[in-house]
Amino acid sequence: MEFSIKQGSPEKLHSACVVVGVFEGGKLSAAAQVLDKASRHHLSDLIARGDLSGKAASTLLLHKVSGIAAERVLLVGLGKAGEQNNKTSVDILRATFKALQDTPAKDAALYCADDTVGKDAAWVIRQAVLAAAESGYRADSLKSKPAKPSTLKHITFATLDKPAAGLKATLDQTVAIAHGMELTRTLGDLPGNICTPTYLAAKALALAKAHKSIKTTVLEEKDMQKLGMGSFLSVTRGSEQPAKLITLEYQGTDKKQKPVALVGKGITFDSGGISLKPGAEMDEMKYDMCGAASVLGTMQAIAEMGLKLNVVGIIPACENLPSGSATKPGDIVTSMSGQTIEILNTDAEGRLILCDALTYAGKFKPDTVIDIATLTGACVIALGHVVSGLLSNQDDLAQELLAAGEQAHDRVWQLPLYDDYQPLLDSNFADMQNIGGRAGGTITAACFLARFTKDYRWAHLDIAGTAWKSGKEKGATGRPVPLLAQYLINRTSGK
Ligand code: BES
Ligand code: MN
Ligand code: ZN
Repeated sequence: MEFSIKQGSPEKLHSACVVVGVFEGGKLSAAAQVLDKASRHHLSDLIARGDLSGKAASTLLLHKVSGIAAERVLLVGLGKAGEQNNKTSVDILRATFKALQDTPAKDAALYCADDTVGKDAAWVIRQAVLAAAESGYRADSLKSKPAKPSTLKHITFATLDKPAAGLKATLDQTVAIAHGMELTRTLGDLPGNICTPTYLAAKALALAKAHKSIKTTVLEEKDMQKLGMGSFLSVTRGSEQPAKLITLEYQGTDKKQKPVALVGKGITFDSGGISLKPGAEMDEMKYDMCGAASVLGTMQAIAEMGLKLNVVGIIPACENLPSGSATKPGDIVTSMSGQTIEILNTDAEGRLILCDALTYAGKFKPDTVIDIATLTGACVIALGHVVSGLLSNQDDLAQELLAAGEQAHDRVWQLPLYDDYQPLLDSNFADMQNIGGRAGGTITAACFLARFTKDYRWAHLDIAGTAWKSGKEKGATGRPVPLLAQYLINRTSGK
């Protein structure tokens, strides 16, 4: 899908569909007023007759309206003027693109960045691009007869007045974010028998091939052994697939500038290992590599933007399976940091691969490290599917991520990382155990990671509830690529 911004009058635009908003109670948006006049009050008539309520996210499609150059007019309900919020704005944009996808239109011109959805133009454009991309995403490449791809190919963000300065830059950045999200979703939705650690490594190498600014290296198990990654390697012991430690180095500015490191959990299938998970919905544990996929998506997005900063992506990737050689509850391993870990539950494997990857991240002398992981079921219980969990050893970093999340509408919610929780990880036989009991499971998981991140500014994102949807809508979301990309953009703009 392609996007552009254009100033013009809505009745004159030659487009397959022109989209304007109508408020609840009959008030027309500025662009709708122009169409109403040009069509001799056709819109007002529809409202008067009750065909159009203006209820938020309702739509009405009109064909060949006289006086209007576009082939179709899509009227979109905006709700009561002044009562819109982030959620209604996004709902309105999603409904708009759903309605457009139901038509054969190849292009559309949207008047949405003016006065309509109740947010500033940049916010609306960001959400509109992501809603458009989402509406065109298909996850059926493995069906023998995939559905027809979306016919909607070009979106024009039309404005009555001169578009605000900087809007084009926002648009280009958001298109890059949408492409990154698509990569993240595609990888997440792929089954575990295709999306293996080797497959993720190949994708990371392909990114380096496509972008000169990215350099990828892949470490094998023997290399990890040399580095002393006994914790990471303990997780892959039960699998036939070789584990990979993937590093992507994006250089967007002077080499001397310290990088941000993004560390993504890449468990390409989590059966629980010897602490086997129950069978119901176990298929969804193919999504246990969504942290890794979000790192790849974000790296691609910033490379496409040419963002002026340095970022290292680090992905520990392996499977967690039971077998005769698998790690057993009670086994004790030595991490790269030298700290020993008693593995009481082999299903708490994410922290075991992340702790070594986080120690490894220190080698890059990072300014800031953010890890992204589908780490705990407890996070889904605590926060549901709306926000990702955020824990950090630096409050200013947490604030920056909270703000970026609001800006990108890919929100996070902070949980405490108090030392008071640390004793729950005490072990009689090793420096720590890998579980802290049922209470505060997301916090104790982060407390475990905190023992490996003392040397740098660090934040942990638990995306267990936000990386994918279950049930009828089962599929990856592409989150938290918008959040991560926005955070990195903000770092370059001195915000
Ligand atoms: N990948 C899971 C976490 C998960 C579970 C994410 C369900 C999304 C939905 C993780 O490896 C895991 O199994 N965590 C355990 C930890 C427990 C054993 C301390 C969990 O949450 O049950
Ligand atoms: Mn697990
Ligand atoms: Zn897991």
